[in-house]
Amino acid sequence: MKRVKAIYPGSFDPPTNGHLDLIERGSKIFDELVVAILRNPEKDPLFSVTERRQMLESMTTGFENVSIDTFNGLTVDYALRVEAGAILRGIRAISDYEYELQMALMNRKLQPGLETVFMMPAEKYSYLSSRLVREVAELGGSIDCLVPELVAQKVREKMREKMDVAHKFSAAESAERESERETPERMAPEAVTLERKTRSRKRKS
Ligand code: PNS
Repeated sequence: MKRVKAIYPGSFDPPTNGHLDLIERGSKIFDELVVAILRNPEKDPLFSVTERRQMLESMTTGFENVSIDTFNGLTVDYALRVEAGAILRGIRAISDYEYELQMALMNRKLQPGLETVFMMPAEKYSYLSSRLVREVAELGGSIDCLVPELVAQKVREKMREKMDVAHKFSAAESAERESERETPERMAPEAVTLERKTRSRKRKS
């Protein structure tokens, strides 16, 4: 019987429970499933590709036919390179459909032999996206039921790192402003005299 290998390409920044749900479903219908993280230098990701890879590897240890990889360039070229016959993508809501259809048809145009298979994650994840997870975490909301615990921990660490950097930056800015402030000790003697005269005139008037 023909064995079907599929790739599940995406950004996974960070991987969510919705991704995991789709990986589980995909692992049941494909003989082999490769979760492929796009290495996209144009984006400013929260997690490096290595961090995302580590998280996905930990999340999928229970699936024997699932592996994690990274790729650059066209998804169809990567699929050919790893000899996959299908691309797995998730559709959560109608709003996903237009973009996904466009991508699937473009991929078919580029590589007619490659099929895109759409699967729906569980309904409870239909509102879930990596972008929203990042936004909720950045604004201090709980992401506990949205991502696996190990991902939640990593996101919290990242947020703490970002806060530390922001605090250091604003402290450095305040220090710089303070150092630029004109105090009598830093002013030229003529300027000090002029300022004192102006102040005394203001008091009198
Ligand atoms: O998780 P995402 O960000 O929705 O994944 C989008 C992804 C990585 C599947 C898509 O951007 C992609 O395939 N990029 C690789 C470049 C490519 O093949 N572009 C043409 C697609 S029509």
